Parts: sequence; C-alpha cells; structure tokens
Amino acid sequence: MPASSFVVAIDGPTASGKGTLAKRLARHLGFAHLDSGLLYRAVGLALLRAGKDPADPQSAAAAARSLDPGGLGDPALRAEATGRAASVVAAIPEVRAALLDFQRRFASSPPGAAAGVVIDGRDIGTVVCPAADAKIFLDAGVEIRAARREKELRDKGAATIEGAVLRDLQERDARDRNRAASPLMRADDAFVLDTTDMDADQAFAEALAYIRSRSSGGPGGPVAEM
Ligand code: DC
Repeated sequence: MPASSFVVAIDGPTASGKGTLAKRLARHLGFAHLDSGLLYRAVGLALLRAGKDPADPQSAAAAARSLDPGGLGDPALRAEATGRAASVVAAIPEVRAALLDFQRRFASSPPGAAAGVVIDGRDIGTVVCPAADAKIFLDAGVEIRAARREKELRDKGAATIEGAVLRDLQERDARDRNRAASPLMRADDAFVLDTTDMDADQAFAEALAYIRSRSSGGPGGPVAEM
C-alpha cells in the first residue's frame, strides 16, 4: 500500500450500520468509499437475472470474473433477495478470489486521487487489507439490527412480516460467520465498536476519534483536518 493511501477497514455483520458509518466517515475525511458488499450483490444479481443458481460455483465464479464495476449503482442491488443471493455466492472461494484484486486496487489507488479510502465489508481488515491503517469491527445485537432494518424497510414503504427480518439476519449471520472462505470475524487488531446502545452520531464520533488516534501523520497528515 503506498504511504499516500490511508486505509480504513470497517467489518461487521449485516445491518450493523457499516454502510452509513463508512459513507459518513469517507465524506468527512475526503476519502473514497467502497461498499464491498455491492460487489457480492452484483454477482448474486447477475445470477438471479440469468435464472442461475447462486450456489453453483462455476456460474458464480464466471459472473464474478466478468463483473462490471460501472453497474454498482443499480437500485436492484439493494433488494433483500439480492442480499440473500450475495450471501450465498460470498461463500464460494473462486468468487472471493475474483473480487480480491479489484478491492486491493481500490485501496492502493483510490479513485479521484483521494488521500485515503474507507472500505466496508466482512473480511477487509482480515483478508483484503490486513495492513489497513485503521480497522473497525462494528457490531450490535441481532435483535437491535433486525429492529433497525425493519424500520428502514417500513420507511421505504415495504411490508414486513413479523419475525421474518430477524430470521433472515440470523441465517445470514450464520452463513457469513461459519463459511470456510474468509468468514466474518474480528481482526485481532481491530477496534470493536458495539452500537447496540448507540445512535449513529455516537458511533460516528467514536469511530472518528479512533481513526485520528491511528493517524501518525500529525498536523498535515491525511486525517488531521477534522
Ligand atoms: O454488506 P452486504 O449486506 O451488502 O453484503 C452482502 C453479502 O456479501 C453478505 O451476506 C456477505 C457478503 N460479503 C462478504 O462476504 N464479504 C464482504 N467483504 C462484503 C460482503
């Protein structure tokens, strides 16, 4: 990683608030942001659209190798069904290998020549960028994550079935944590931020204080201007 690129890795389970936190930190720091989940979602969506089984390793690996990063703005990527397919393709080692280069290139050569990057996902601090300058493991109890996700869905006008979001999160957690290939886990040197009893502003303030503590640049360093 060139010294010029300051890498912030944020990992955590589904609906822990990684995306919101990562986006806000990136905006605040003037860094580029990569939501790595979108890459897995794009692979899942490509398979669903082609009528293929997301669990089929060959089709999934082929979709990952031909991924067009220009299509990551498609709103269908955010759909719940796409998230489920993403969690299935993410367990396939060939898919993970195909997406690794893109993520590492993003980290070492941020778009727009930004001074740094914030990348959120499940294995950023452990596998993709093990030498990241700052690593945050964002967590929250599964019930509170389900309640936040349900509120988000209701705010979007979507109908929710009692208990379904919680069951879905529990299934995704189990798949993400128990798979053999790059399972979700906390890096030994990650700062653990449990947001069960925190709102988004508190989580942001804590994360920013930690990132500042990791910046060795001093005044004029990449994260000094805050
Ligand atoms: O964060 P998300 O819900 O958009 O992620 C979708 C799925 O992709 C999730 O089930 C786990 C997987 N994923 C992963 O395995 N590794 C990452 N770095 C990011 C996401």
